[in-house]
Amino acid sequence: MLRKIVLGVLLILITAIAVLAVVNLTNASEPIPELEIAHGEEAELNTRPWWEATTVYQVYPRSFQDSDGDGVGDIAGIISRLDYIRDLGFETIWFSPFFRSPQKDFGYDVSDYYLPDPQYGDSLLVDSLIQEIHRRDMKVVFDLVLNHTSEEHPWFVESRLSKDNPKSDWYLWQDGNPDEPPTNWHSALGMNGWHYDTTRQQWYFSSFLSFQPDLNWRNPEVKKAMFKMVQHWLDKGVDGFRLDIFNYIYEDPEFTDNPFSLRVIPTQDYTKMFWQEKKYNMNHPDDFVLAKELRSILDTYDPPRFMVGEVFGDHKTLKNFLGQEQDGLNLVFLFDISALEWDADFFRDKIRRIEAFYPYPYTPTYVFSNHDRVRSITLLGDDMQKARTLSLLQLTLRGVPFYYQGEEIGMPTGNIPGDIALDPLPAAFDWLPDFAKDEVFNRDNCRTPMQWEAGPNAGFTTAGAESWLPVLPGADEINVASQRSDPNSLWQTNQKLLQIRNENAPLKWGSLRWLPNYDQGDVLAYERVYRDQTLTVMINISEEVKNLPLSDKKALIFASGEAVLEGGMLRLGPDSGVILR
Ligand code: GLC
Ligand code: MG
Repeated sequence: MLRKIVLGVLLILITAIAVLAVVNLTNASEPIPELEIAHGEEAELNTRPWWEATTVYQVYPRSFQDSDGDGVGDIAGIISRLDYIRDLGFETIWFSPFFRSPQKDFGYDVSDYYLPDPQYGDSLLVDSLIQEIHRRDMKVVFDLVLNHTSEEHPWFVESRLSKDNPKSDWYLWQDGNPDEPPTNWHSALGMNGWHYDTTRQQWYFSSFLSFQPDLNWRNPEVKKAMFKMVQHWLDKGVDGFRLDIFNYIYEDPEFTDNPFSLRVIPTQDYTKMFWQEKKYNMNHPDDFVLAKELRSILDTYDPPRFMVGEVFGDHKTLKNFLGQEQDGLNLVFLFDISALEWDADFFRDKIRRIEAFYPYPYTPTYVFSNHDRVRSITLLGDDMQKARTLSLLQLTLRGVPFYYQGEEIGMPTGNIPGDIALDPLPAAFDWLPDFAKDEVFNRDNCRTPMQWEAGPNAGFTTAGAESWLPVLPGADEINVASQRSDPNSLWQTNQKLLQIRNENAPLKWGSLRWLPNYDQGDVLAYERVYRDQTLTVMINISEEVKNLPLSDKKALIFASGEAVLEGGMLRLGPDSGVILR
């Protein structure tokens, strides 16, 4: 009898562990829709807005260029490097926030949306930054944190004073017993998002960290103040916005508890983690409505402006931000493909999905690195050859490519341990067991100073100065100056590819068609077609040399590695790709 009970319990335990493992270790993939692909070339070029064909370079102001020797990058430093970005070949520059901020989350905690933080410069410098960019025929994108402010923003300072001040309803305040949050809602980080304020004796909600209280967008005054700010920057000539955690703006007005989920390890899109599905405080339908409202403001401006949303979810959800009539956000980041695997099937699957979910006139985006994640070169095992070929892929796909400063030279990810991080994230996960803590990424490691040249401080700041984060040890080898003078460098590859993209309508505006016979295997092959112009891209993602027959006579425009075109055959070296005409 006892044996049977023990056996039964064991069986139940084993089944439970198996179910948990399956739930947590698989990423279920979404069914791909059957869509009639509308091809871009049917639309007249002059009816298509510039942003559909732009290329974006992300600057993280703290770490790009310091001009005054305080070890922190600044706006004057950025201005001195604008020619660099133009010469590299990008059209649009997106700046992570340089607004006033206590810098607890390095600018993603804004205390004034109109003024730059004094350590970066003053308003006159912001004006000249915009002018200097436009003078170079380039575009400027600001980063807007609409979801939350800093706890030091005067609005929150006032709001937390009492339950009946003029700003009392500007944030998400709720009654409740001090030991029991009003709902079970998790923040973006998967832990309790409610914080008790002892003065007001109420809870406030924050989607990110406790010092970043969420604004109450259901209050018309909040909306009005934020729209006014958006218009202020549009009037100043800003060409677009990157919208920070845009899918956390609205929460359920009924404050309904989120459902339980078996998922502990975060799903790729963070919708489920730590036993919860964030059904009521993430991707709320009112976020989709807000996307349209913002779009209608932007659409009153000429030349056209655009928005790209930092949003997480499956493709079906992400499309809701873009709107059925393309009347929402112009673009959203498609992070699914950013979790790079150097594998042809991986890319084929992700790109196929993107093409199916976002056919023309939707415009996809391709992003592999930013200020929050492990740099892509690290995911490629610091392999410069793979990086060159990844650039070829990224700059020949249909959609807007986003690069992050340093990506053009394959700047590596640092190794600064979490327990000495300046980034507030690792500390927020202090409660995790040690083995799991090691999995939390210290974002300092992708924010180390830009490596401009060999020598002290890599040219980021003056020689004797102490930079706010250490310059990485390998900067003498991996830097802009040395790669600019090396014809085979990653920098040169990127520059050449950007030039080819800028000069060829199919790469900017054309549709993407997979070549028959390449549905499987190590080679990715597609055409970019615009009217009567066609370019062919072939990429070998393997360590073997591939001999590929070509259907007609072609010319080699560019190769990211070893490639020989001879007698109707293309001989493509390991991890190498080509553009053919
Ligand atoms: C976004 C930003 C990140 C920031 C967070 C909170 O994810 O990219 O850097 O910490 O939002 O604003
Ligand atoms: Mg400085």
